[in-house]
Amino acid sequence: MFESIRVASKGKASVLIVGQFKDEGLNTETKALDTDGSLVKATKRADANGALGSVVEVHGSNGYERAMIVGLGSRSGFEAGSLRKVAGKTGRALAKAKATSVNFQICKALKKLNKTDAVDPFTAGAMIGEGLGMLSWSFDSLRGTATDVATQTKLAVRSCCNPFNDGVERGLGFAEGTNIARTLSQTPPNIATPMWIANEAKKMARKSGNMKCTIFSGKKLEEERLVGHINVGKASENKPCMIRLEYTPARGKSKKPIVLVGKTMSYDSGGLSIKVGGGMRGMKRDKDGGCGVFGAMHIIANVIKPNRPVVALLVSAENSISDEAYRPDDVLTFRNGVTVEVTNTDAEGRLVLADGLIWACEKENPEYVVDIATLTGGIVTALGAVYGGMWCDDAELRAKVEAAGENSGEIVWRMPHHADYNAMMKSPIADIVNSSAVRGAHPIQGAAFLTYFVEEGVKWAHLDIAGVHAIGKDSEFMCAGPSGFGARLLADLIERS
Ligand code: BES
Ligand code: MN
Ligand code: ZN
Repeated sequence: MFESIRVASKGKASVLIVGQFKDEGLNTETKALDTDGSLVKATKRADANGALGSVVEVHGSNGYERAMIVGLGSRSGFEAGSLRKVAGKTGRALAKAKATSVNFQICKALKKLNKTDAVDPFTAGAMIGEGLGMLSWSFDSLRGTATDVATQTKLAVRSCCNPFNDGVERGLGFAEGTNIARTLSQTPPNIATPMWIANEAKKMARKSGNMKCTIFSGKKLEEERLVGHINVGKASENKPCMIRLEYTPARGKSKKPIVLVGKTMSYDSGGLSIKVGGGMRGMKRDKDGGCGVFGAMHIIANVIKPNRPVVALLVSAENSISDEAYRPDDVLTFRNGVTVEVTNTDAEGRLVLADGLIWACEKENPEYVVDIATLTGGIVTALGAVYGGMWCDDAELRAKVEAAGENSGEIVWRMPHHADYNAMMKSPIADIVNSSAVRGAHPIQGAAFLTYFVEEGVKWAHLDIAGVHAIGKDSEFMCAGPSGFGARLLADLIERS
């Protein structure tokens, strides 16, 4: 949509943006901007009803090339997140008009919004910045000579006040992290191999200056007994690795780190338990848990800069097929001593995640651990593309994850742990199987499997994002394709921890 978006504090913009609530006229503060009366006149038009996301254009208004009256929806239903949608719709109209500079004056409409002043100018700016930034994501680097790629314009954003401008900067930063996650997700599996992703992580760490990146591959995986990686990744010439990113704060170094573990399968063919029918298509996105974590680390290191360490573990492999592939019937002994009978090589994510969870508990002394993974097709059936599935039995952490979900718009719904689900995972010859013969409760079985690798007493949340990591159609501020789910949620979670 836009090649770039930046905040400009000075100078004149060509487009003016004002807000209008549904079935209300312009408020007094907004009217004060309307010296020539063209805005008030435009609100008399039938389409100027303030419906959420509506955009009414007024040419040659108040010395601007054009003004846009954007609908904020009903006052009672209004929330900060509504402004992402407003940004999406406004951004589309701005791009269509080939606008290069814009002046957001929507704070005026938000004055006296309600008694608690729920949406302050900073938050409003953040939502607008996030929406515009996410709207602007595209992936054209692999378009060849046979495609005309549309040229995009650069957009300079001005506004009524510094808090709004600062908010826009923050929102753009959150969008950038999300867009990095989306770009990684979109990168095809013949390019985005585990080691390629590791190299991207190294580049990000170097650039940020406050992160360190360590790669565990080859002999190191053997030495550290990361058997999930070794076995799942065995069949592919694209070798597995565990990518460890560590953010070190300027202050608060000695605090316990929060550890984020992301499933990063560069491709999931199912292995010898091969995916059939259309099941394999799109499995380049089986790295999206790791992509979400990657994007979150970008936001953490560049925008939030929290006063506590954060460690990310991207557990990465390609689940492929060859004579060297791990097989159904193999038994693996994990680093924590738990033995796993492989019953289905397509339940591979939990095996690499097991390595990451053991590592997090044993080596990182975590404040808490969150893993995020495109783990099961069952969660798609259960929750669709609306909520991510969340398992977390610690009330305090759960409340934080839920709040971060609401605030970021990447919402999660609680799913259960229960001893009876754990019992479903018992193996006749080893401790547990990686996939039970019982068909029911698949997403919960996945979560139950993971409990065997989290130390007693460690606070932990598991997120299954197989339903929400990609979206089928355009929304107000997103296009069909990877959603970058997790980047904003996890960054928000870290900020409130
Ligand atoms: N990567 C898949 C899960 C998935 C499905 C992600 C659809 C995105 C969209 C995972 O590795 C998998 O194959 N899960 C199996 C587990 C089963 C074999 C226990 C599934 O859900 O069918
Ligand atoms: Mn699989
Ligand atoms: Zn998978």
